Amino acid sequence: SVSPPSLIEPDGGELVDLIVPASERAGKLLEAQSLPQIKLSKIDLEWVHVLSEGWASPLRGFMREEEYLSALHFNCLRLPDGSVASMSVPIVLAIDDRAKDAIADSSAVSLVHPSSDEPVAILRNPQVYKHNKEERIARTWGCTAPGLPYVEDAITSAGNWLIGGELEVLDRITYGDGLDEYRLSPAELRAEFARKGADAVFAFQLRNPVHNGHALLMTDTRRRLLEEGYKNPVLLLHPLGGYTKSDDVPLPTRMAQHAKVLEEGVLDAESTVLAIFPSPMLYAGPTEVQWHAKGRINAGADHYIVGRDPAGMGHPTADRDLYDPDHGKRVLAMAPGLEKLRILPFRVAAYDKSKGAMNFFDPSRASDFVFISGTKMRAFARTGESPPDGFMCPGGWQVLVKYYRELASQ
Ligand code: ADX
Repeated sequence: SVSPPSLIEPDGGELVDLIVPASERAGKLLEAQSLPQIKLSKIDLEWVHVLSEGWASPLRGFMREEEYLSALHFNCLRLPDGSVASMSVPIVLAIDDRAKDAIADSSAVSLVHPSSDEPVAILRNPQVYKHNKEERIARTWGCTAPGLPYVEDAITSAGNWLIGGELEVLDRITYGDGLDEYRLSPAELRAEFARKGADAVFAFQLRNPVHNGHALLMTDTRRRLLEEGYKNPVLLLHPLGGYTKSDDVPLPTRMAQHAKVLEEGVLDAESTVLAIFPSPMLYAGPTEVQWHAKGRINAGADHYIVGRDPAGMGHPTADRDLYDPDHGKRVLAMAPGLEKLRILPFRVAAYDKSKGAMNFFDPSRASDFVFISGTKMRAFARTGESPPDGFMCPGGWQVLVKYYRELASQ
């Protein structure tokens, strides 16, 4: 018998796991209760989740200043062997003056849950440093215009200090929203890919419902990999599950929509793993897409699909895209620390009237193509008009109709 193919190595060699063993939980909880406390926001908790399971391996906690500077200026972290690991967005915890004073020179602090106030983690050997928000925003987004969603919701009113240090997370982070079973950790995903005997794992990051254009990218990738001689390429269909802006479709609706896409055979259920990526969404375009790709290496993906304008959005004040729609894939293909990940870039897909199906855009017959934006979909759903046949599977579309109708009647 042949030994199962091995998966890509996590960044830094070893997958970080910051969750304390069950046998130590009670003792650590007691300790946490005796420490100065920092109350986490919902987005902070999502970053604790990300860190706890090793999505950001080799990072072992909220960034200290050296790591922060490295992420901000080089989009990567230097490893002990001299190589680099991709790390394009700061993973930081902001605190205000009062919290800073309360911490004083404590050697550990406790991070408490945004709603229950229960300790979720201990942060050791804290380092407190200045939170220069303008510099962070300018370097992460390349834009300081008002109206960037993550900035408005997580940075503008955050404290003027950042606190870094290693984490010990008291228990697995869960949300009790009926979707926790889909929140597979990188270690669990690796086990699942090994169980399926995957000889290639191709990841698809998304924060939108799957239309047949997205599906085209995924089915085309599978076809190419089989043609190249892979025997069992497995798709990681990996919707982002953390913070999203208010006009994005919420996670529960998206998960129901994705389930229909699998049920109705748009994607092959047998060779697909549907799971949730716990990161919040920054909408930082080519900078953020490096984070999206890096996280998936840690989960065992060695191929990464990227199409039009990944992690992009409209400019908050001007009538144009915030980023050049082609830069995401071009940046990914040359990003330091992502050399071991094979990037699969795709052209934009749109509805091809001549085929009655989604197809890769052909500029030589541009008038055959219709672009169906989120805004257009919303309008269709609200007025009860159907999108053209072949845009999305019927069951998936019905999930969206229901969501948009309820939204309109509120
Ligand atoms: S993202 O913010 O998660 O990147 P989205 O869910 O819209 O956004 O897209 C998921 C992936 O599909 C990204 O790689 C994106 O580039 C790609 N994509 C989205 N729409 C299209 C399209 N019409 N044509 C080609 N690629 C697309």
